[in-house]
Amino acid sequence: MLNRKILVTSALPYANGPIHLGHLVEYIQTDIWVRFQKQRGHQCYYVCADDTHGTPIMLRADKEGIAPEALIAKVWEQHNADFKEFGVAFDNYHSTHSDENKVLASLIYTRLRDAGHISSRTITQAYDPVKNMFLPDRFIKGECPKCGAAEQYGDGCEVCGATYSPTDLKNPVSAISGEKPIAKDSVHYFFDLANFTDMLNEWTNAGHLQAEVSNKLAEWLGGGLQQWDISRDAPYFGFEIPDAPGKYFYVWLDAPIGYMASFKNLCDKQGLDFNEFWAKDSDAELYHFIGKDIIYFHALFWPAMLHGAHLRTPSAIFAHGFLTVNGEKMSKSRGTFITARTYLEHLNPEYLRYYFAAKLSAGVDDIDLNFDDFSQRVNSDLVGKVVNIASRCSGFIAKRFAGMLSANCSEPALFAEFINANETIAEFYETREFGKAMREIMALADKANQYIDEKKPWLLAKAEGKEQELHAVCSMGLNLFRLLAVYLKPVIPVLAGEAESFLNISAQAWVAGLQPLLDHQINEFKPLMTRVDADKITAIVEASKENLEKTSSSIAVSTPVVKQAAKQFEPIADTIEFNDFAKLDLRIAKIIKADPVEGSDKLLCLTVDIGDETRTIFSGIKSAYQPDDLEGRLTLVIANLAPRKMRFGVSEGMVLAAGPGEKEIWLLEPDGGAIAGMRVK
Ligand code: MSP
Ligand code: ZN
Repeated sequence: MLNRKILVTSALPYANGPIHLGHLVEYIQTDIWVRFQKQRGHQCYYVCADDTHGTPIMLRADKEGIAPEALIAKVWEQHNADFKEFGVAFDNYHSTHSDENKVLASLIYTRLRDAGHISSRTITQAYDPVKNMFLPDRFIKGECPKCGAAEQYGDGCEVCGATYSPTDLKNPVSAISGEKPIAKDSVHYFFDLANFTDMLNEWTNAGHLQAEVSNKLAEWLGGGLQQWDISRDAPYFGFEIPDAPGKYFYVWLDAPIGYMASFKNLCDKQGLDFNEFWAKDSDAELYHFIGKDIIYFHALFWPAMLHGAHLRTPSAIFAHGFLTVNGEKMSKSRGTFITARTYLEHLNPEYLRYYFAAKLSAGVDDIDLNFDDFSQRVNSDLVGKVVNIASRCSGFIAKRFAGMLSANCSEPALFAEFINANETIAEFYETREFGKAMREIMALADKANQYIDEKKPWLLAKAEGKEQELHAVCSMGLNLFRLLAVYLKPVIPVLAGEAESFLNISAQAWVAGLQPLLDHQINEFKPLMTRVDADKITAIVEASKENLEKTSSSIAVSTPVVKQAAKQFEPIADTIEFNDFAKLDLRIAKIIKADPVEGSDKLLCLTVDIGDETRTIFSGIKSAYQPDDLEGRLTLVIANLAPRKMRFGVSEGMVLAAGPGEKEIWLLEPDGGAIAGMRVK
């Protein structure tokens, strides 16, 4: 087998929020692919980093009253710990706020500039006169010019889906200070992407991209390429542009360069040759795994930047779809916006690795995490099929044969069949058809179980004179189990590692030429994996809703809505049908009693009169109200929400209030007209 040199990256997560299950689709997908390459004996490096620059991070640090450097250091620790526990084994996890990145960003910029690909001109932009800063589109709010919806951001309307520029918004205000923005001029630097039209037309059709991605790019290229604005004015958390004091590189300029910077950092630590991977004539392979929302940056800007700076371009870009949960976009209120940490507090990370593997393909289709399907697959495949083989055979080997496997392989044809499957399975891993690989492996597991079912070792164990056959059957079963562990190792490395300890063998490479374990001493069997406990899933959803209560007061400074053109690859915004709305039983409720909740600094326990009955509802409004002030007041409630078990008791409905949180939570104003129990239409 030819020994390949491969450098692999996953997109750099923003340093302003926690890793969530959506992110993990990508990191787990990449990690499986990398582990597979390493297991095959290739020289493969997997690097990543936190994406630390930009306005949202600067503002969040501001809000927390810490320096951006302190914020990104804290988040780096959290991200790193999450990845580690999910088994995402980067060879290096760096930061875009690093010396290496500063040097490389300057180098690439300077080369582009010297080759005539950078120009500058004055543009007019919205400016916050209180905060003294230019406002990114995402930080201007106002009424949608098309449908009039209030509180829409400067880059598009979440109600009617219109996209527009912030100057079109009616009654715009700064989302940071609330002040009306003024128009202000400033010089900006641009990357002349149009200079690369020919190069990109060719590159995007030369087999570096998935077919559906190539087609999308052909549309974008057909529409003509615009200059890309790569500078931002101070105050900005980022790198100052070398020849332009007070101007900073836009976060998306230095972010992909962060891939190189992380690798450079690894090279310095391990004495590797950086140029061998990045020089124009490099014979190493370079792959970027990304989500479909950031294709524009990776398949247009990035190859153009690299080409313009006389560096090699990627061998391929592998885009994946978005994660939905139970068929819907992840939602904080439904408790399906699940962070890596919340998951880890309740369930084994290898369940999720296996489940994602079983659902992943090479395409950009969205993938759905369905909780019932999740439990069922993990229980039936990993626990019921794979681990079961070992637990069915190991007891007899331990008790009756002192832990020694038999001296002969009783079914060489069956063993060979398992070995021969390796090329098909490898091909599926290589082409990122992980779902197909898992089906192939589970078909083998079915065969191993059938074999044991036919031979019935539990009867052999009781029969006279069947000692040798019992030994042969159980040894065979464990040899087949061993091969399944080899094939599953990229996906569930911990379980595979424990299987290796149990079988008393060293870390297994891919199987070519493997011989059965004969006359071989194994170790005591310990249960390798337990079934998914459905209560744990409920607990995760509940905890994710509680997280929401904890964070609801932190103003949503979400990541910038990407990139108009890339929107076509984004999942459709959440809307509900009229019928869904009609299902809500909205009522005016009168608060009869309000009590503090021991152990919660957010919640109050409300007793409310909804006309025909009284209800107990827990509500996160303590930051804004004294319990005493609430008694007698009216509020709006959802009366037919299924009762929800919380840590402090059962909540029988939900109180609706307006406002950003903290001190600003507004219930209905008392106004004589409304009375408890009135239905809201
Ligand atoms: N910082 C940029 C990437 C810069 S790469 C030079 C960014 N960060 S992100 O944190 O928003 O996303 C990181 C990766 O996770 C992206 O590839 C993104 O597509 C992916 N995902 C984020 N949410 C996701 C889902 N819900 N589902 C699947 N992938 C998701 O973009
Ligand atoms: Zn609108």
